[in-house]
Amino acid sequence: MRKEKSIKLFDRLSPFFGRAYGRQRKQYSRIFQSMVQCNLSHFSTILDVGFGSGAMASVFADMRLKTYAVDRSMGMLKVAKQKLVHNKVNLVLADAVDGLPFPENSFDVVIAAFVAHGMQAEERLKLYAEMKRVGKHLFILHDYNGKRSLIYSLAEFLEGGDYFNFTRVIKDELMDYFGNLEIVNTDKMSCCYVCNIS
Ligand SMILES: C[S@@+](CC[C@H](N)C(=O)[O-])C[C@H]1O[C@@H](n2cnc3c(N)ncnc32)[C@H](O)[C@@H]1O
Repeated sequence: MRKEKSIKLFDRLSPFFGRAYGRQRKQYSRIFQSMVQCNLSHFSTILDVGFGSGAMASVFADMRLKTYAVDRSMGMLKVAKQKLVHNKVNLVLADAVDGLPFPENSFDVVIAAFVAHGMQAEERLKLYAEMKRVGKHLFILHDYNGKRSLIYSLAEFLEGGDYFNFTRVIKDELMDYFGNLEIVNTDKMSCCYVCNIS
């Protein structure tokens, strides 16, 4: 999907993400406070790319990680600012594909949840390059694992991203780019793709 169209779509969807904030926070707490494969408590800084309502970033802040988060949708930024009023998260409006506004090696962990499947392959490569540039140790994509449901397939068809191809190519793509990959199942339809970039 073209950039302007995608930004408009997420601006329009931002109130719905706002309403799902509490449910998402519970889900992300369950995932990241118990994930032994990438124990985040070993780290001190994290960047969340494509923060949406800010639910996941709020969990990282609760885990005492110094948390930065970027999104290119002004609608999402407004929602996240309201939700995160008591959480220490540094929210930045930026497009990760155009270049993350941070120097090299700024963060121990760089993560993007449900962002990569909405991009075309060439955009994903730019995303990986930027995440790798600003990251030091772990690179995590939290995203679809390939299992389908009618509702999600329909929603993703309407989003117009690369969802249907993404789950077929993502493992090879990440292995080719980072040279290692661990897959941690998190839910019926999602997983964390974890690459060590130390
Ligand atoms: C499907 S939502 C996921 C939001 C959140 N990560 C979550 O798990 O609920 C995708 C988010 O990524 C953002 N996004 C998509 N492409 C982006 C890019 N190139 N740079 C920054 N944010 C982007 C969208 O604006 C949207 O907020």
